[in-house]
Amino acid sequence: MQMSKQTAHTQDEGRFEARMAHFGGDLCDALAALYGDRADFADWQSRLTALIQQAYEARPDHLKAMDEARADAPTPWYQDAKMLGYMCYPDRFAGDFGGVKGKIPYLQDLGVTYLHLLSVLKARRGDSDGGFAIADYLSTNENLGSIDDLEALITDLREAGISLCLDFVFNHTAREHEWAQRAIAGEKAFQDFYFMYPDRKVPDQVEPLLDEVFPETAPGNFTYVEDAEKWVWTTFYPYQWDLNYHNPAVLLAMLDNLFQLANRGVEIFRLDAAIYVWKELGTHCRNLPETHVLIQLFRAAAAIVAPGVALKAEAMAGARHITKYFGYGDKAGKECQLAYHNAAMAALWDSLATGNAKPAYDMLSALPGKPEGTSWVYYARCHDDIGWAALRDSTGASWGAADDHLNWLWRFYAGEVEGSFARGRRFQPVPGEAFAGSNGTLASLAGLEEALEVGDDTALDLAVRRILLLHAVPMALDGIPLIYMGDELTLLNDYGHADNPAHQDGRWLHRPVMPDGLEGFTPDHQSAFARVRAGLRSLIKARKHLPFLGSMNGAHYVEAGNDHVLAFVRPAKDEAMLCLANFSAKEQSVDAGFIEEVLGASARDISPLNGICGRRLSELGPYQCRWILGERTE
Ligand code: GLC
Repeated sequence: MQMSKQTAHTQDEGRFEARMAHFGGDLCDALAALYGDRADFADWQSRLTALIQQAYEARPDHLKAMDEARADAPTPWYQDAKMLGYMCYPDRFAGDFGGVKGKIPYLQDLGVTYLHLLSVLKARRGDSDGGFAIADYLSTNENLGSIDDLEALITDLREAGISLCLDFVFNHTAREHEWAQRAIAGEKAFQDFYFMYPDRKVPDQVEPLLDEVFPETAPGNFTYVEDAEKWVWTTFYPYQWDLNYHNPAVLLAMLDNLFQLANRGVEIFRLDAAIYVWKELGTHCRNLPETHVLIQLFRAAAAIVAPGVALKAEAMAGARHITKYFGYGDKAGKECQLAYHNAAMAALWDSLATGNAKPAYDMLSALPGKPEGTSWVYYARCHDDIGWAALRDSTGASWGAADDHLNWLWRFYAGEVEGSFARGRRFQPVPGEAFAGSNGTLASLAGLEEALEVGDDTALDLAVRRILLLHAVPMALDGIPLIYMGDELTLLNDYGHADNPAHQDGRWLHRPVMPDGLEGFTPDHQSAFARVRAGLRSLIKARKHLPFLGSMNGAHYVEAGNDHVLAFVRPAKDEAMLCLANFSAKEQSVDAGFIEEVLGASARDISPLNGICGRRLSELGPYQCRWILGERTE
């Protein structure tokens, strides 16, 4: 029986009102916390409500249906064990949106359910920090296709079971964005969108407290804009102007952008550079409480307009901060549904370099668990450098790497340490501190490049094992495993990147162009590639067949009694999986009694990577990751 238009309309309105009733309190609380002191607060409140209502009305029916289906599901969709992420630059991956469409079978074959496309929205011309300097949020880079082509691609992806994730670069716009251009032209209303100062008075007061994100290529946090005769706050590159969220007009304009993209079908928004988004003079302007309130506001607004959409925090902060981006205290679970676990990522690379799992264990076991309804995003590599600061910022914690060690780490991954297997490069050393990040592809950092150059079979074998270890651990953890373009193919560093004037930034070392004909890829190192390919596929398949690995269940780190071995348990209802990851190049073992204590007497090996196992459950080959299934004992 067909529902009458009138009934459908009434149902639709009812849904909106129900969501308003449910999330309106969070929305108003957040708005009041940020702007409640303003004389015109009531006006902004009604503007926000109007914007939300309008966005809801404009949301296409098929997306509303998706929202409803997701709301009715027993667990959040992104917590499913079948979730697998893949991130890539569409032009380097497949040319343009049409090319990406053509690669859907490749992605499906890999098992991908969430695709993060980088550098899609219209960036400034020339150097754009890899697409993170956006000139228009509502159109796309012309070489890829139009925004309508993007929408068509999103629909094709969704039909193939793949959700699209885009960067929501909400900390800054490009200097070429219309708002910035109008600010330069002297329009006060748009100057108020940014932090603009007539002289160095405020910048000089603030600068000593701030981070330098790109100390080598973009030192300082303020840029003099001659056309405007003003200093502008630019945390990143001089052409990336920080937005001023003290101005509610900025909030509304950015929310409008988010809703319009959500209504085009974007399902996951990666909140770029989230830690810097709220600024307060006199502070270091990182991870401020107001930043969290702002994200709560985005979340509540999205929950009303488009509850099927998820927000993902890109919070490149010290480990003790990152869990907070899910919301904390009485707001736990009310910020982002997803967050990159950059601390786990850096810790895994630390353990790989040192062969010691202890520092990773100490940190990961000390971090607070994630709130209900959330999921980590685990990854080995992404388009950025490995930022070691996640291991450093340990104030008040029992763990934390000293600066000497962090300096050793980047030197290790730049191949500058005796015995290093890595071929990476350092990124942006901090003047006077000899502190840097690390660039390089997974394969090059894990030793494949060096092994191939030296022509040593043992080194090659160890490199393959390291690569698989860094795939196997995220695959067993309580979040979405994310594969970075080219890592599934063991692509090596791209040393030619600097030939392109727009690719001078060292991170282009690990942003290689994908080879033609991905399916039939045959590199010179065919046998190593074949092992990684087969291993990765087994891992993905195994994860998808173990529903309890979904992130509705947390991970519980345990001491294995062997410092080389990282151990964690993924408890399900009656059963549990123990993951043992050996970070050393030598065979290791744990006490058989330890396994029995955790999993009972009937534990059995279910490792997807059986080819590289030791014989007994308690034995681990070099860099082996063993998955063991047993009963839940606690
Ligand atoms: C994020 C991006 C990084 C970019 C920065 C500024 O950290 O991942 O690539 O440089 O934000 O937008």
